[in-house]
Order: sequence, then structure tokens, then C-alpha cells
Amino acid sequence: MNAVEFNEREVTLMERTFIVTGVILAIVFSLLCVAVMIWSEDAASAGGPAKAKPEPAAAKKHGFVGVAKCGMCHKSDAKGNQLKHWQESKHAKAYEMLASKEAKDLAAKVGVKGDPQKAPECLKCHTAGFGADAALLGEKFKIEDGVQCERCHGAGADYAKVPIMKDRAKSVANGLIIPTEAMCRQCHNETAPRMGDRAEFNFKEAWKKIAHPRPKEAPAKK
Ligand code: HEC
Ligand code: HEC
Ligand code: HEC
Ligand code: HEC
Repeated sequence: MNAVEFNEREVTLMERTFIVTGVILAIVFSLLCVAVMIWSEDAASAGGPAKAKPEPAAAKKHGFVGVAKCGMCHKSDAKGNQLKHWQESKHAKAYEMLASKEAKDLAAKVGVKGDPQKAPECLKCHTAGFGADAALLGEKFKIEDGVQCERCHGAGADYAKVPIMKDRAKSVANGLIIPTEAMCRQCHNETAPRMGDRAEFNFKEAWKKIAHPRPKEAPAKK
């Protein structure tokens, strides 16, 4: 009987040792897991490519190609010759006219010193690409072109290709802007210096003067 009792106690002891060791092992294992998780997060946020967020489309800086490039594809009369419409608008002369006596007088009146063609206070509304990183201004980009296509439609290096241009969604994803009245008012507003009275900007009337639509009968875009 004694022997049996002893054996039972031995079994209970062994069981306890087993359970205690098991619990300790489990705790050590979970601690290790947590440590590994924390470490790997640290490693990733320290610049690991796995966690690098893609740059949002709107934040991407596109290069300027210049009006001549847009004109290559947008000068056919059958499709509305946007190039010619723009060339005939005052926007095409907006930089050139900063060399006029009128412009110099206006600059003097509002206290802008020096050549208006070099003054940021004037260039911001009379050119395209103002404030852009010089590296973004392509070889064919010319400040002389004044308020050219890319000032309203966005810098074109990434969208000015036929397969992209034919698809509005793709074009927009690559930087094309479909401008609205708000775009005009970035410049046609009360902060623009003036000599005398200037008529209040009327979008409908102004748009008629610079509209450059594709003719209705032209092949429809996708
Ligand atoms: C290689 C040819 C090509 C070049 C370069 C090009 N485009 Fe286009 N563009 C097209 C084509 C093709 C379409 C589609 C409609 C059509 O067939 O006229 C289009 C459409 C457009 C549209 C209308 C988009 C819409 O969905 O309504 C705009 C605005 C436009 N282009 C502006 C520009 C500007 C600004 C530039 C210069 C930065 C430019 N394009 C350069 C070929 C070109
Ligand atoms: C906030 C944008 C803006 C700024 C800044 C700006 N301009 Fe203009 N400027 C315009 C607009 C828009 C027009 C066309 C107005 C119209 O005809 O309705 C214009 C027209 C002119 C004209 C034509 C005559 C007139 O008064 O309409 C002259 C000259 C001129 N600007 C000179 C300058 C000079 C010089 C500077 C810098 C000292 C300058 N502008 C700064 C937007 C601006
Ligand atoms: C980057 C600034 C800028 C933006 C954006 C802009 N304009 Fe202009 N606009 C000018 C300047 C500067 C002039 C004056 C140029 C000159 O007289 O040489 C002008 C002149 C004009 C004129 C000629 C005015 C006249 O007396 O005949 C019209 C029309 C016009 N803009 C319409 C528009 C419309 C419509 C929009 C929007 C779709 C627009 N502009 C967007 C700067 C801008
Ligand atoms: C002053 C701003 C401005 C300038 C500069 C400008 N555009 Fe536009 N463009 C617009 C606006 C506004 C629309 C009409 C957008 C809409 O469909 O609502 C437009 C429409 C277009 C369209 C579509 C026409 C259609 O009926 O589908 C083409 C193509 C285009 N522009 C090409 C050009 C090209 C090429 C240049 C330069 C040679 C240019 N634009 C210069 C403001 C501008």
C-alpha cells in the first residue's frame, strides 16, 4: 500500500513539474513573439521599403514640356487648332507685354522695382511654370510663351503622349488639369495691380474670347 501511495505522490509531483515548466515555456515564447513584432515594426518604419507609402498622385511634380510640344498634336483645324486659338489670345503675349512702357509704369506705380520681366510680383501671373523647380522646366520650355497651355492644363511631361491623352482618367492621373473658372481667378482677381479701373472678371464673356473647343463633328474622344 505504501508503495502505491508513494507512486501516486510521485506522479502528482511529475505532473506539477510538467505544468509549471509548460507555463514558463509558454510565457517565454509569447515574450519572444512580442519582442520580434516590435523589432520588425521598428525596422520597417526606419525606412524599410515594405512600409514606404506611395507618393499621392497630386503631390507628384510633373515636368513642363513647353507649348511647342502641345502644339505638335493640337494644331489641326479638324480638331479645333487649340494652338492657333491660344497664339491669338493675349495669354500668349502676357510675358512679352511686361516689357512695355505700360507695364513699367504700372510696376513703378505699385512699387515693384526693376524690370517687370524679372519681377516675381509680375511673373507669377504673366507666365507658366512660375515657382517650379528649375529642374522641372524642360529644354523646350520658354518663359517667353507667357500664360501657355501648361499654366492652365498642368505640366505635361507625363501626360502628353497619345495613349495617355486619349483617356481622360489616365491623363488626369498623369497631371492633366481640366480647368474651371477657379483656375482663371487665380490670376483674374482683385490682387492684380492695375492703372485705372478694370472691368470685373466675367467668366462667361472671358471664356468666349479664349475658347478652343474641338468641333462637334470631330472624332469623339473616348
Ligand atoms: C503626341 C500627341 C499629343 C501631345 C504632345 C499633346 N496632346 Fe493633348 N491630346 C492628344 C490626343 C490624341 C487627345 C485626345 C483627343 C483628340 O483626339 O483630340 C488629346 C486631348 C487633350 C485634351 C482634352 C482632354 C479631355 O479629356 O478633354 C487636353 C486638355 C489636352 N490634350 C491638352 C494638351 C496639352 C496642354 C499638351 C501639352 C502639354 C498636350 N495636350 C500635348 C494628343 C496630344
Ligand atoms: C494676380 C495676378 C497678376 C499679377 C500679380 C500681375 N498681373 Fe498684370 N494682369 C493680370 C491679368 C489677369 C491681366 C488682364 C486683365 C484684363 O485684361 O482683364 C493683367 C494685365 C496687365 C496689364 C495690361 C493693362 C491692364 O491693366 O489691364 C499690364 C500692363 C500688366 N498686367 C502689368 C503687370 C505688372 C507690371 C505686374 C507686376 C508689377 C503685374 N501685371 C502683376 C494679372 C496679374
Ligand atoms: C496665370 C494667370 C492667368 C490665368 C490662370 C488666366 N489668365 Fe487670362 N490673362 C492673364 C494675363 C496676365 C492677361 C493679360 C495679358 C496681356 O494683356 O498681355 C490675361 C488676359 C486674358 C484675356 C484678355 C482680356 C482682354 O482684354 O481681351 C481673357 C479674355 C482672359 N485672360 C481669359 C481667361 C480665362 C477665361 C481664364 C481661365 C480659363 C484665364 N484667363 C486664366 C493671366 C491669366
Ligand atoms: C487660360 C487657360 C487655358 C490655356 C492657356 C489653355 N487652355 Fe485648353 N482649356 C481651358 C479650359 C477652361 C478648357 C475647357 C475645359 C472643359 O472642358 O471644361 C480647355 C479645353 C481644352 C481642350 C479640350 C477641348 C474640347 O472641346 O474637348 C484641349 C484639347 C485644350 N484645352 C488644349 C489646349 C492647348 C493645346 C493649349 C495651348 C496651346 C491650351 N489648351 C491652353 C483652359 C486653357
